[in-house]
Amino acid sequence: MEITVRSAEPGDLEAIRRVYGGPRAVWGTFQLPFSTAERWRRLLSEPEPGAYDIVACAGGDVVGHLGLRVAHQPRRAHTAALGMAVRDDWQGKGAGTALMQAAVDLADKWLNLQRLELQVYTDNEPAVRLYKRFGFVVEGTHVAFAFRDGKLVDAYAMARLRLAPAP
Ligand SMILES: CC(C)(COP(=O)(O)OP(=O)(O)OC[C@H]1O[C@@H](n2cnc3c(N)ncnc32)[C@H](O)[C@@H]1OP(=O)(O)O)[C@@H](O)C(=O)NCCC(=O)NCCS
Repeated sequence: MEITVRSAEPGDLEAIRRVYGGPRAVWGTFQLPFSTAERWRRLLSEPEPGAYDIVACAGGDVVGHLGLRVAHQPRRAHTAALGMAVRDDWQGKGAGTALMQAAVDLADKWLNLQRLELQVYTDNEPAVRLYKRFGFVVEGTHVAFAFRDGKLVDAYAMARLRLAPAP
């Protein structure tokens, strides 16, 4: 089935909550198993400046979400942080690749961002593989970074650099 990517809309709230509510999505992200509709309503209906939310759709259904957050500090305005998830029953079918391609195009061709950064659990192999395929490299390891399902786990700091030549 064809996967398309578009901007997230307030009406996508329940579909995006469903994406992040799946057990594999909770395992791979920093979300709690419960997230209120109000939290997502605010993110989608009252986005902060520099917040870009996109969704992957298949057959009219929202099956994945990616959020890009440009840093607020003026001296970090060339950077953005990324977070993403694909609905459990859609993982491994190309939605993550489509979302990341759209995010990288937005960052490189329209926002002129120089550095994209993210954190990912060191044992999240599908995610690390996807990020490396788009040019992200491991910059270091955060030890005991997050509590996941009863254990503290490590996370990589990864970044994708596209540095403009110094003036
Ligand atoms: C990580 C994630 C976003 C990737 O999206 P996706 O739609 O599954 O990815 P794609 O189908 O485009 O495939 C990306 C790569 O992951 C691999 N992959 C995806 N699901 C996999 C699985 N369950 N087991 C093994 N590999 C898998 C694909 O083979 C592909 O590898 P390649 O780059 O070597 O070809 C998605 O699996 C996901 O939402 N996981 C749970 C939440 C999460 O971990 N989010 C990331 C937080 S940092």
